[in-house]
Amino acid sequence: MKAPLLFVGGTLNTSRLSLEPLTPGHAPLMYAGFAEPDLYRWINAEPPANVDDLKLRFERIANPYAPGGELWLNWALRRTSDGVYVGLVEATVRPDRIVFLAYYVFSAHARQGFAREACTAVIEHLWRAYDATEVRADIDFRNVPSRCLVESLGFARRARNIVTTLRGAPSVDCRYRLRRRGPPIR
Ligand SMILES: CC(C)(COP(=O)(O)OP(=O)(O)OC[C@H]1O[C@@H](n2cnc3c(N)ncnc32)[C@H](O)[C@@H]1OP(=O)(O)O)[C@@H](O)C(=O)NCCC(=O)NCCS
Repeated sequence: MKAPLLFVGGTLNTSRLSLEPLTPGHAPLMYAGFAEPDLYRWINAEPPANVDDLKLRFERIANPYAPGGELWLNWALRRTSDGVYVGLVEATVRPDRIVFLAYYVFSAHARQGFAREACTAVIEHLWRAYDATEVRADIDFRNVPSRCLVESLGFARRARNIVTTLRGAPSVDCRYRLRRRGPPIR
């Protein structure tokens, strides 16, 4: 039987980013980025109405101990050269150690490799700190940047898609997964 999931706090560092555990205090610093409508083009979410709205959302997700025994892990991505926040990575760790990954990079900072850099660090952390066995991402088939991102990270597309809806219109999500290689990390 697997041991219960325990939250491992702390900041992760990459060559250009500091990945800070998300707190409600990040809301005013990230509001402008999250207010961009383009960010939500292929996902079932809407921009926050104002800073307080975003703060409430961050308050809800900042407690890592989620219903059903899951852990919700969220990292605010801060560029170390100037302290500017460029996006967010979210990981939902299920008790069976399968993790669902989601990510946002604000449009002013897109195509600079920040999502790839942050996700690489998060995935490595998930293998080591949470004994994760597999990381998954379900992605609208039209979301080219997100599909390119996971493919560049080595995720494989699974055979079956998910039939879904996006803002009331029928759509299809592609299912991707990355399996941990080798034995459990000790
Ligand atoms: C998906 C997203 C996070 C990518 O962020 P990013 O920082 O621009 O991505 P990166 O610069 O790290 O690029 C990663 C890879 O994807 C490719 N890529 C990114 N955007 C692309 C685009 N528009 N067209 C083609 N390839 C693209 C890059 O070339 C790179 O591939 P490489 O490593 O082989 O060169 C960003 O577009 C985003 O926030 N989208 C809106 C939110 C969303 O849909 N999230 C996904 C579902 S939760």
